[in-house]
Amino acid sequence: MSNITAVRGFKDILPEESGKWQHVEKIARQVFANYGIHEIKIPLLEKTELFKRGIGETTDIVEKEMYTFLDRGDEYLTLRPEATASVIRAYLEHNMYKVDPITKLFTIGPMFRRERPQKGRFRQFHQINVEFIGQKDPRVDSELIFMLAHFLSTTGLTNLKLEINSLGCPECRPSFRENIKNFLNDREGRLCPDCKRRLETNPLRIFDCKNDSCQESIAEAPSILEYICSDCGDHFESVKRYLELLGVEYTINTRMVRGLDYYTQTAFEIITESLGSQNAIAGGGRYDGLTRILGGPDIPGIGFAIGLERLISLVPGRDEDFIQFPHLFIAALGQKAQEFSFPLCNALRKAGIRTEMDFSDRSLKSQMKRSDKLNCLNTLIIGEREIDEGKAPLRNMATKEQNSIDIQSIEGIIQTLINLKQ
Ligand code: HAM
Repeated sequence: MSNITAVRGFKDILPEESGKWQHVEKIARQVFANYGIHEIKIPLLEKTELFKRGIGETTDIVEKEMYTFLDRGDEYLTLRPEATASVIRAYLEHNMYKVDPITKLFTIGPMFRRERPQKGRFRQFHQINVEFIGQKDPRVDSELIFMLAHFLSTTGLTNLKLEINSLGCPECRPSFRENIKNFLNDREGRLCPDCKRRLETNPLRIFDCKNDSCQESIAEAPSILEYICSDCGDHFESVKRYLELLGVEYTINTRMVRGLDYYTQTAFEIITESLGSQNAIAGGGRYDGLTRILGGPDIPGIGFAIGLERLISLVPGRDEDFIQFPHLFIAALGQKAQEFSFPLCNALRKAGIRTEMDFSDRSLKSQMKRSDKLNCLNTLIIGEREIDEGKAPLRNMATKEQNSIDIQSIEGIIQTLINLKQ
């Protein structure tokens, strides 16, 4: 082992795992295409200011978890802890709204948060992020959630729970915040030092605290749904109605406030019971004020992000079921057969057949072992005599059945076998 290891909380995704990752990303691209969502690729690094303003100065992410550095003494830059602020920055910067304010975007990639690593929680993790920008209609909220459920069920996930809440708007949230503050002032002694501070800076964040005593203190707190204004209430009622119309089951969790300050109205999470404490597979919500916060015109938006490590750990099937094993191994015996097989192997690859061969000119036994090790589905055994006769044995590595075939027709034969398997 090298004495230099990966950074704590940063992990390698190994070749044997990557088949499942590709499978999930492929489904995402297919599903998203059906809903008219286009891919955007955004930088990993942004100006720190973007996240401070976008996510909120008094959130845990901005206060404690960002990887921020002073770039050559010039300006503060941050490895993106999430994608929404960057997507909206790009949307505004490229004047996308002038062409068409209604824009649906997705992006897939790594995010960075300096949290305490544990099962299902990393410092570099990956998200699939979707944003529906430009529409305030509650049907948009419901169809976004419907699509998330559609995607997750297509990957094979079951036993998921959708929780929804409304976080109100800048009109009605302040009165709820004041009320929570008053409610907790009497219980301040039981709050952790962080929450004592949050009581002044951002009382809603106390809902997210993992400390038992803080959770107990807030258990009896009033529900935000009692404080939201009639606009927010109507919007929430419509979202629920459209979810029902689309057949999406939900539960209301009035304590779910989400960890980012840009949310307004609809907030939601998909949770599972199979992952221990890191039970959120996906989270999202509406952020109607974000474009303004970032200096643009007033344009509504809603989106979500799925944690890929968590999702992939729940996708049924073994890692090896998702690996594309070679269709063919060519065991070439002797110099002449090696010379013959080398261009054949590469021509077959070009024709779409996953083909392997061994350059070491080893014995048939060791080449068969190599074919087995690579999990090749078939092996073509070619020696000098086979080249002269134009016929060679093709062995099915699973059944051990062997048939003499015309070497010239190998491409067609393997193609037929591939088609039969599909
Ligand atoms: P978030 O709830 O912070 O939302 O993250 C979304 C998902 O990312 C979580 O539900 C979880 O699955 C995964 N995740 C978060 N932190 C970690 C971690 N340290 N290790 C592993 N997985 C993690 C957002 O990021 C928002 N930008 C979502 C959004 C998009 N809202 C509107 N648009």
